[in-house]
Amino acid sequence: MTAHYEVRGNVAVITLDNPPVNGLGFATRAAAAAGIERAEADAAVAAVVITGAGKAFSGGADIKEFGSPKALAEPNLLSLIGVVENCSKPVVAAIHSVCMGGGLELALGCHYRVAQAGTKVALPEVKLGLLPGAGGTQRLPRALGVEPALNMIVSGEPVEAQMLAMVPGQKLFDKIVDAAVVDAAVAFAAEVADKRPLPKVRDLKARHPNAEAYFQFARNMVGGMSKNYPAPLRCLEAVAGAVNLKFDDGMRAEREGFAALMLTPESKALRHLFFAERVASKIADVPEDTPLREIKKVGVIGAGTMGGGISMNFLNAGLPVTILETKQEALDRGVATIKKNYEAQVKKGKLKEDKYAARMALLSTTLSYDDLKDCDLIIEAVFEEIGVKEAVFKQLDAVAKPGAILASNTSTLDVDKIASFTSRPQDVVGMHFFSPANVMKLLEVVRGKATAKDVLATVMAIGKKIKKTAVVSGVCDGFIGNRMIEQYSRQAGFLLDEGCSPHQVDKAVEKFGFAMGPFRMGDLAGNDIGWAIRKRRYVDKPGMKYSASADRLCELGRFGQKTGAGWYDYQPGKRDAIPSPVVEEMLAKHREAIGAKKRDISDEEIVHRLVFALVNEAAHLLEEGIAQRASDVDMVYLTGYGFPIWRGGPMCYADTLGLFNVVQAMKRFAKNPMDDGAFWTPAPLLARLVAEGKSFT
Ligand code: NAI
Repeated sequence: MTAHYEVRGNVAVITLDNPPVNGLGFATRAAAAAGIERAEADAAVAAVVITGAGKAFSGGADIKEFGSPKALAEPNLLSLIGVVENCSKPVVAAIHSVCMGGGLELALGCHYRVAQAGTKVALPEVKLGLLPGAGGTQRLPRALGVEPALNMIVSGEPVEAQMLAMVPGQKLFDKIVDAAVVDAAVAFAAEVADKRPLPKVRDLKARHPNAEAYFQFARNMVGGMSKNYPAPLRCLEAVAGAVNLKFDDGMRAEREGFAALMLTPESKALRHLFFAERVASKIADVPEDTPLREIKKVGVIGAGTMGGGISMNFLNAGLPVTILETKQEALDRGVATIKKNYEAQVKKGKLKEDKYAARMALLSTTLSYDDLKDCDLIIEAVFEEIGVKEAVFKQLDAVAKPGAILASNTSTLDVDKIASFTSRPQDVVGMHFFSPANVMKLLEVVRGKATAKDVLATVMAIGKKIKKTAVVSGVCDGFIGNRMIEQYSRQAGFLLDEGCSPHQVDKAVEKFGFAMGPFRMGDLAGNDIGWAIRKRRYVDKPGMKYSASADRLCELGRFGQKTGAGWYDYQPGKRDAIPSPVVEEMLAKHREAIGAKKRDISDEEIVHRLVFALVNEAAHLLEEGIAQRASDVDMVYLTGYGFPIWRGGPMCYADTLGLFNVVQAMKRFAKNPMDDGAFWTPAPLLARLVAEGKSFT
């Protein structure tokens, strides 16, 4: 039973009780419907109050039931709302704390609504690529007015109840109280017990003085803002139905819209992301109740590009940070950059002066390891050289207090090796931030073979505290994200060999939805970085095939924006990428030198080769246990590499296409003479999934 029933005087009180937010799962719906029936049958009951136990009235659908047949089992939400609306005795919703999605739709089915000030009210379905499917698009415009309802439904954003109560003419709330909402609702119910007819939101009219013009204006606005997402416009059409159609016809149109959106890849992707985000913080063999180490003070070693950004995350979260460097000038430079970043935020009005001052007050600097001895977490972000890391970790081992977590931000070095420089490898972990570290959401938490479980659990929790999406990776060259991107970059190179221009590749990838194509990205990050890595790789993995086009580019000194020329030309002081005749000529010579024949390549082939390269490498990562689950890979790409959100990440995208089709395409790519045929052998996991007719998720 997930709802309780009691009688106070002549009022029955039904309390939804399905922690944490009284999700309207099957058992809760059934219990609520049974409560209404019981109240109908009890002659001593004259009115009913519905409320929620604990921290919510109701947060809406029960996410545990998402996509399962239970979500639709009768009484489904529509049926429950029907039972409530058709109750012969008045039903009053006692709303507090959180009233969202299906919770608000249920409240709209009640005859009256009493709300506590501060309640967050929303119809957030659009954020999952859906529209409210249990009457929300029909009843909210009738109760609240067309414009405010449309704003809520298209944005999905919560609004506090007392704000909505100020909307002129609104019928959403009959009463707002400051506290004790259930007592107030019981008193209200007793007052209206004998009043007939019972008011129903469905009987109200949703009116707008210039409906046609207003909706046309809104269509233009919403259409412009929601390019890749079909849901906002469908929400709008559903709300227009509340004005233009009879209630039952509007309900039918809403249901059709809901069903259509449910099948869109965009909604599938957004729902996938919703769950992927929640599951990413879980580690299979680390129990959820693992006691955490307390983190009250943070040390950062190195005040360069990464050290400064990393420090800002902790300052923003209210944690004191001490940065250590070898020279005062380096400290001064690092602190100046932090200040510059904050000042830019202040200028844009994104940060208040007093908050800026409070954050800077938490920052201290030092040249002495002694000042790190009371830090609970120390993150190293010094030069990417194993000898430098060794010296740093030996000193940390000597001064850090017992139990302090020692983290490295290394992007390519072996975390196990770094741990071995200390006498406490169990306290060592990788915390791989992405540049700019104060902006990018992704944090790869690199688990060494000795890393203690409570260290992992603590780092995952601190990741959440500093508002990162933390994903666990095992130790390997490049971890999850960069190991995959290497294959993506190789494909980009082969595409040039075969006749694409950098601009053609970037355009196709950007049209697919990536923030930036590989060549514009290379110019931004600096092509010399990849050059240095490739030089090392040629030695490490002599068999690995690469396009040498990027080397030819670097030999021309074209490192990217910082040298004013890269894959593109740049005008002084500007960032616009202009296709370069010099690069065209270089590529033509390069093709001639390697005996490559130029051919026409479609945008689809470009995108599929780049994305399937990610997918196949990720399948290897999953098989090796480096990544825990396919959805973690998606989180890495969505939060760290600009993969289009509405496609749900590379693995979700591959699932959407069908893994069989992915493998068929890979077999075609393998025949390409310029490509690395061996790479396209499907990873064993991928082959197995296809053989079993399964998907990654
Ligand atoms: P950087 O060159 O901008 O900064 C390194 C800083 O460390 C310099 O300020 C230097 O003075 C200081 N330093 C060097 N040796 C030191 C020592 N023994 N003690 C104290 N300070 C010392 O380098 P960046 O880009 O910040 O990289 C730092 C680390 O972060 C590297 O391991 C790198 O692989 C990693 N990383 C870099 C990313 C990037 O996009 N730049 C992304 C993710 C990780």
